[in-house]
Amino acid sequence: MYLAYSSPGRVYLSGEHAVVYGKPALVTAINLRLTVTVEEGKKETKTSFIQIIKVVQQYLTSKKITHSDKSIHLSVKSNIPVGRGLGSSAALSVAAAAALLEFYTGKENSSEEINNCAYRIEKLFHLHPSGVDVSASCFGGLIYYRKEFEFLKNISRLNLKIPKNISDKLILIDTGHPIESTGQMVEMVGTRYNKETSRVEKLLNQIEKNVKQLVVSLMKEDVAFFKKTISENQKALVDLGVVSKKAVGILKYLEKLGVGKITGGGGLKKGSGFILFYAEDLEGLKNHLEISKIPYIPFSPTLEGCKKEL
Ligand code: PMV
Repeated sequence: MYLAYSSPGRVYLSGEHAVVYGKPALVTAINLRLTVTVEEGKKETKTSFIQIIKVVQQYLTSKKITHSDKSIHLSVKSNIPVGRGLGSSAALSVAAAAALLEFYTGKENSSEEINNCAYRIEKLFHLHPSGVDVSASCFGGLIYYRKEFEFLKNISRLNLKIPKNISDKLILIDTGHPIESTGQMVEMVGTRYNKETSRVEKLLNQIEKNVKQLVVSLMKEDVAFFKKTISENQKALVDLGVVSKKAVGILKYLEKLGVGKITGGGGLKKGSGFILFYAEDLEGLKNHLEISKIPYIPFSPTLEGCKKEL
């Protein structure tokens, strides 16, 4: 038996860091995909894959679904860069959940079932995953996320698309690999929060406002409002201390060509990961980036979540 499922990566449009403090976040699935293939017969030897298989088996047992104990082998193919804040581990969790659930139950499972199982797998990679990455990868499209309490998380797939007049002008500019892990960046913000609570709270409130403004700008297809919001959000992230001098310098260097914000956890000492950048003249910007040897990748949001590969 042979089965394959693919799942997309994701990009934070807004709300990173503030989401840790119960504020909302807006995330989109992107058209970079990871495929998991499961094959019966060969024994899996890779520790992380053995762990994934165990989690799925435990998930089925907890739901009182009997499953076989046949030898199984996983293989992964991906064009999502790893460790670059583009949700590659969530895409792996989702595609593996979908493929293994079908392998063990003999039927295709609902997106909700895949999402729940993938969330458990994601816990192998992140101690306290929010769930937003897994949901974006599972369902595709735009996800609005908010955690009220540990037991009350709101994950909504918005009935909304990034309008073409905005998505066609967006690009992901690479400011370089952060030295710090996402966990370290979250911790840095926490330390700052404890020292300068009221200042940091103001910034988090600002980001919450930006997330809501961004949704409105997408609904209204309002480019000017979108750009203004992206700039305000970036300023708040700089003030929060999660953007490096290098990333600030790149944005300054490109300021005549458009506006941008970092996406994801950021980084302070060297690179800050990717910048989501809006440019009126995208082709002109690409030329400029190529001449300046600044790497970039296309930004292509997708409504397509996890799907079976035939
Ligand atoms: O660095 P990334 O792409 O994994 O994004 C992290 C986003 C944070 O809000 C900083 C942390 C989180 O768990 O939401």
